[in-house]
Amino acid sequence: MEEISIGLLGLGTVGSGVVKIIENHQDKLTHQVGCPVKIKKILVKDLHKERAVEVNQSMLTSNPDEVLNDPEIDVIIEVIGGVDETKNYIKQALLNRKNVVTANKDLMALYGAELLMTASENGCDLFYEASVAGGIPILRSLVDGLASDRITKMMGIVNGTTNFILTKMTKFGSAYEDVLKEAQELGYAEADPTADVEGLDAARKMAILSTLGFSMNIDLADVKVQGITGITESDLEYGKQLGYTMKLIGIANREGEKVEVSVQPTLLLETHPLASVQNEFNAVYVYGEAVGETMFYGPGAGSLPTATAVVSDLVGVMKNMRLGVTGKSAATPQYKKQLKEPGE
Ligand code: NAP
Ligand code: HSE
Repeated sequence: MEEISIGLLGLGTVGSGVVKIIENHQDKLTHQVGCPVKIKKILVKDLHKERAVEVNQSMLTSNPDEVLNDPEIDVIIEVIGGVDETKNYIKQALLNRKNVVTANKDLMALYGAELLMTASENGCDLFYEASVAGGIPILRSLVDGLASDRITKMMGIVNGTTNFILTKMTKFGSAYEDVLKEAQELGYAEADPTADVEGLDAARKMAILSTLGFSMNIDLADVKVQGITGITESDLEYGKQLGYTMKLIGIANREGEKVEVSVQPTLLLETHPLASVQNEFNAVYVYGEAVGETMFYGPGAGSLPTATAVVSDLVGVMKNMRLGVTGKSAATPQYKKQLKEPGE
């Protein structure tokens, strides 16, 4: 191939980071995949908005078909967010035999199995590392690094916005509304932050983690969720006086074929390793029967950390394209298995 051509859907917090990494790390990308990587078209909502990154205005479009139906585009990166519209865009891209990378946990938690099946049927990759825990390569670690083990439990902090809010409220006594606004300005929160503060964003990530970790279909509706909106400054202060720190914790437990997944605010002893995870950082413990306890830690939200995961997925897709093995990604067979009827 002379060049890999990318269609980018979205140029907000994550999309701008993707543009920067593709530009700034072009040498490394070219070295890894054997040819230059170029963004050809970018879908946005507002063509006249001021951007966090400089792009040629002629690359921008508000017409999805100009990106999704462009025969020269090899890979679509979806960083718009939301479910209905993006599901259609990703389906259209896959049916046009374009590989897809997405950071969209809302979509993957609800329709991951269906979309991965469409990808596989069309010989395409659909990668979604950035959908869980931002810059931490946790999905790859579960699917590849721990492929030989039987995972029994996962526990951690998987939402950066709420960890940022709880950290600032606990450490500095900051007001909830002020810190939420700061998290929005820093690009950590979702376009509508309700999903962050009500725990739904963390629940979506726990559904994806447990689906991959336990190799079974975990329905988002079965995840018990409680967010942080009911937490008061005095709850945090009393906890602190007793030597505890409040964190929004996701837990997925497996006993035989029985699985329980939940997200809730939890008081942790200040000496607990998760209590020291600050601001937008995330951490996930994974317990395997053979490996024992492992912990993954890193930035869970933000432009460049998230874009790192997106562009690493892009490298994975491009390597598969070069080898002629797209549509045979590690995650796909597990979803196929889940789509079988019980007892099959
Ligand atoms: P964002 O800053 O709100 O950016 C969204 C982008 O999509 C904007 O460029 C917007 O265009 C474009 N867009 C929105 N609706 C559109 C439509 N109907 N048609 C065309 N373009 C549209 O969002 P983000 O924070 O980058 O998040 C993007 C995705 O990454 C989401 O799925 C999110 O959950 C996920 N994610 C985010 C983070 C993070 O730290 N922010 C981390 C991990 C995963 P305009 O710019 O013209 O308005
Ligand atoms: N809103 C999300 C968070 C972005 O705060 O964790 C990263 O998925």
